[in-house]
Amino acid sequence: MPLADSIRLVSRVAILSGRVPRSPSTAWERFWAGIAEGTLPEDVLWEGDPRSEATEHVARGIDHLDTSLPVVDVGCGSGWLSAALAGAFPRVLGLDASAAAVDLAGRHHGEPGRIDFLTADATDPETSERLHGQLGDANAVVRGVLHVLTPAKQRALAAGLRTLVGTRGRVYLVETNVPGNGLGYLRALGASGESIPAPLAQAIRTLPQPGHFGPAERARAFPEEQWRLETEGSTALALALPADGSHLRVPAYWAVASAR
Ligand SMILES: C[S@@+](CC[C@H](N)C(=O)[O-])C[C@H]1O[C@@H](n2cnc3c(N)ncnc32)[C@H](O)[C@@H]1O
Repeated sequence: MPLADSIRLVSRVAILSGRVPRSPSTAWERFWAGIAEGTLPEDVLWEGDPRSEATEHVARGIDHLDTSLPVVDVGCGSGWLSAALAGAFPRVLGLDASAAAVDLAGRHHGEPGRIDFLTADATDPETSERLHGQLGDANAVVRGVLHVLTPAKQRALAAGLRTLVGTRGRVYLVETNVPGNGLGYLRALGASGESIPAPLAQAIRTLPQPGHFGPAERARAFPEEQWRLETEGSTALALALPADGSHLRVPAYWAVASAR
């Protein structure tokens, strides 16, 4: 790509992202409120193909997690994956720091006692202690959350998950892991100096910038002294791009871990 196009793309992104709230929790809350109210009209970028993707995650859950235990969908967003997990686990708790997301998820997918949703910060140790007190050992499913957190918050989330899973539960995580720098990532999603696909532009305008999360990031957040890596692999997550109802699949990383 010519340098001039890269410069144009970088400046478009800088302008678009100029008004993103400095506090990630404020940004997420406004994002989900905008989706719920329709003031953010584009598709949610990371919900490209929920049905077939859910099948993939549920299958891994059945293969690698104890399905007699409850499962917590950490950072559940609109709750599509929580709903799918209810087909394999006796009880699902979708947890998100955004009250607007939890409200949206509850309205679309809530089934009290079977699929419940809770507003809480998953990086707060009190959250995991409270949940473990209510549920006992539980599994945790984490999709697309670690790559939006700082390394310190990733470690805090993993520490909380250790409390939550106890001796019988496990963590299943799946995160986008696009190699290269931020510019390469934007180009992989179809952005150029000339145009940025609408669902991507909506995310850039409203949300903190994501990173990538692969084996190296997992090893740092889930250190070997505290976690046993059960299995890991590569996959792809479907994004709502281009905005014509088709999907773009981006490289992703998944892993299953249990607490030592
Ligand atoms: C990229 S979205 C993924 C949503 C969902 N897991 C999915 O795959 O559709 C990241 C989600 O993590 C939530 N989140 C961010 N930080 C969080 C935290 N500290 N505790 C709980 N949820 C958090 C956001 O509100 C958002 O819904």
